[in-house]
Amino acid sequence: MEQNSPVKHEDFNISDLENQEEFTKNVTYNTLVENLNSLLANEFTLFTKTLNFHWNIYGPSFHSVHKFLDNQYHDLLKIIDGVAERIREIGSHPIGTLEEIKDSTNLVEHPGLQPNPLNMIADLMTDHETIDLQIREILHDLDNSLIEDPGTYDFLTKLIKKHEEMTWMLKSHLEK
Ligand SMILES: [Fe+2]
Repeated sequence: MEQNSPVKHEDFNISDLENQEEFTKNVTYNTLVENLNSLLANEFTLFTKTLNFHWNIYGPSFHSVHKFLDNQYHDLLKIIDGVAERIREIGSHPIGTLEEIKDSTNLVEHPGLQPNPLNMIADLMTDHETIDLQIREILHDLDNSLIEDPGTYDFLTKLIKKHEEMTWMLKSHLEK
């Protein structure tokens, strides 16, 4: 009777596993950089929108809202700088041209239109909420990855807090 031939296994090679892990880490790292650049593009766009509304606000509350938006765009400028420098700190390069910002943002601008003051505030609030969700998604991806990057994790968590604060201030203008 014919004997069963032993099942053949491919040679187990530990370095294949290590290479696979290295490859996955590289892909995840590149995705993280891409995500941070998309975040940078959204922060930059929101900065521009806030600056635009600071310039073009009108109505009975002009002075206070004009000043309030002045504070907000200065805060956003600090945020932009922080995101760009975080990308450098993890060893990559931030996008830095208006063309790249335009290609990478998913926030919507309305060229040629100046909404009424309450719609300006509501529009900015929606954008802060969009960014807040975007940061949560980046954190979620980071959580489920092989990359250990507590610095970026901490940076993004604090950034959520900052956007929540800015959203609350905007929202307070809309409450009656
Ligand atoms: Fe100004």
